[in-house]
Amino acid sequence: MTKGWTKSDWRTKPRIQMPDYPDAAALNAVEAQLAKYPPLVFAGEARKLKKQLALAAEGKAFLLQGGDCAESFAEFSADNIRDTFRVMLQMAVVLTYGAKVPVIKVGRMAGQFAKPRSAPTEVINGVELPSYKGDIINGFDPTPESRIPDPNRMLQAYTQAAASLNLLRAFSTGGFADIHRVHSWTLGFAEHDKAERYRELSNRISDALDFMTAAGVNPETAHTLTAVDFYTSHEALLLEYEEALCRVDSISGQPVAGSGHMIWIGDRTRQPDGAHVEFCRGVLNPIGLKCGPSTTAEDLKVLMAKLNPQNEAGRLTLIARFGAGKVGDNLPRLIRTVQEEGANVLWSCDPMHGNVIKSSTGYKTRPFDSIMREVREFFAIHKAEGTIPGGVHFEMTGKDVTECTGGLRAVTDEDLSDRYHTACDPRLNASQSLELAFLVAEELLSLREEGKRIAL
Ligand code: PEP
Ligand code: CO
Repeated sequence: MTKGWTKSDWRTKPRIQMPDYPDAAALNAVEAQLAKYPPLVFAGEARKLKKQLALAAEGKAFLLQGGDCAESFAEFSADNIRDTFRVMLQMAVVLTYGAKVPVIKVGRMAGQFAKPRSAPTEVINGVELPSYKGDIINGFDPTPESRIPDPNRMLQAYTQAAASLNLLRAFSTGGFADIHRVHSWTLGFAEHDKAERYRELSNRISDALDFMTAAGVNPETAHTLTAVDFYTSHEALLLEYEEALCRVDSISGQPVAGSGHMIWIGDRTRQPDGAHVEFCRGVLNPIGLKCGPSTTAEDLKVLMAKLNPQNEAGRLTLIARFGAGKVGDNLPRLIRTVQEEGANVLWSCDPMHGNVIKSSTGYKTRPFDSIMREVREFFAIHKAEGTIPGGVHFEMTGKDVTECTGGLRAVTDEDLSDRYHTACDPRLNASQSLELAFLVAEELLSLREEGKRIAL
């Protein structure tokens, strides 16, 4: 992509948020091993995703990106992958049918293992320990030994990512995602209002499918009905892992991150001259860039020029994560910066990372009302600016966890201790995720009615 770039150039730049491995020989051995392993994704897939994201930037598709805050080794199971995949399919159905827009499905899955932290240490039960940085780096157990960075964890993360991706590929094309099964995706869903709305929507879809079959559309050959495209993404935080999985695309000769289809740069590691930007600028994959309240217009200009020098459509997704009540102070100024530069970007909304609070019962949580509010503000500002809200980015799970408060089946501060399973930030549960999908569908529909989206 960029002349003269090599996959190890990031090593000459300031590195932050990455571990200092105590055993250099062990690290080198792991890197050498990973470099010999097959990539997890292929350049053609990353290019295809980029084309779809380019459509979303024009309002002709919509990006749905979601999954765990941090995938963990302990929670790795087929059921967990299936449940997250299923709730994403449900959300996509609500958006596709409700708002008549094709949905690009991108999991925070099969690679989302490394976490930036706000402090290098944390106090657990009165003991100060190095912070947990994600299972690919150190252990969650609150002991000094488990918190030592261990490079061998990269091999386990690779294996887990490969197995997860294998299952996701099988679910996507092997029948599970067949739209004719739209009713069966509700299984495991408790009775409540949104489930009822989802069931009504499924009935209407079934009717439409019956009509198409009667009219001669053969479901066996209509692949768009029986299979989906599903992509993976993660924060490219641990650059030793990213470098080891970087490959050269045999068709274009360009470097490609083989660790996932899309990678993003976090709010804490987006320094224009830092190591993370240096790595990401050289690979051909679609790149996400988190934009928070501290993102300045100056930095954004430099970042857009570095990360997308050819101004290629679909290459750069700006993921706004300001916090409810702060969108109005920040999004308009950044939208104007993008316009001044004539930059081609896709705007996506992450209503999770600016809305973390501590509950009265001591849990890190996110009020569902704040999440909804940030989504509404994101849409309202794009409407006012005449720009396109092209996607959403959620931390969510298909499980019935109690990590974010609120929602129709209201989770209270007292409920948080019931099923608080996250390895890092609080996630939406299945019913909160679906509720949000209905909200987004309504926002999209109202834009469409105003003629702001291009009819398909
Ligand atoms: C994340 O997406 O998990 C994350 C840490 O986000 P941010 O960089 O926006 O804080
Ligand atoms: Co998070």
